Amino acid sequence: MSDGATMSSPSSPSSPRPRAPRIRVRVRWGRAADLAGCRAFDRKTPARILARCLAERDVVIAELAGERVGYLRLERLWARLPYIALVMVAPEHRGRGVGAALLAFVESRLAAKGHDLLLSSSQTNEPRPQAWHRRMGFEECGRLRSVNRDGSGEVFFAKRLPVTPRTSP
Ligand SMILES: CC(C)(COP(=O)(O)OP(=O)(O)OC[C@H]1O[C@@H](n2cnc3c(N)ncnc32)[C@H](O)[C@@H]1OP(=O)(O)O)[C@@H](O)C(=O)NCCC(=O)NCCS
Repeated sequence: MSDGATMSSPSSPSSPRPRAPRIRVRVRWGRAADLAGCRAFDRKTPARILARCLAERDVVIAELAGERVGYLRLERLWARLPYIALVMVAPEHRGRGVGAALLAFVESRLAAKGHDLLLSSSQTNEPRPQAWHRRMGFEECGRLRSVNRDGSGEVFFAKRLPVTPRTSP
């Protein structure tokens, strides 16, 4: 499996939403040199945690002409189950397939490693990212009340991944 890929996101011909033109981004694993750039997307996570996530290939970056336009960070529940702790696209590039491209990259890499389930979440008071998760094939799998600093809860989502055969030992 390569370290990076130029991806446009999967799309559905039956989408009810008006569609902005897609942009073709390069999606790749984050690396140590991305630390400062990642903090622009992920301000609340301490730098030492971000550095560890980068070292463990839990960060994915979408680039457009060398500029970081999207960011996704994984964590693991029980050190095992992949969970999207944050997915964020630069505001000026939203709605053009960048989030879907980040997700497609992560899903393919996780499935190739034998993972058949991906978790994610969104605040209960933020309907747009919830709708995006559903559009991307996630199903709600539970809620936690009042876990966020603003008093809101969190909706959790799960998506089954098609496990693909391992290509290398
Ligand atoms: C949520 C977010 C990551 C989505 O990324 P994006 O690049 O804007 O989304 P995409 O353009 O890849 O959307 C892919 C598909 O979902 C659809 N979609 C996008 N936003 C949607 C929404 N709010 N409701 C329903 N569908 C939506 C798109 O129309 C597209 O559909 P299509 O395949 O039929 O064309 C982005 O909007 C964002 O950064 N939001 C702020 C941070 C956030 O809330 N993160 C999630 C919680 S951690």
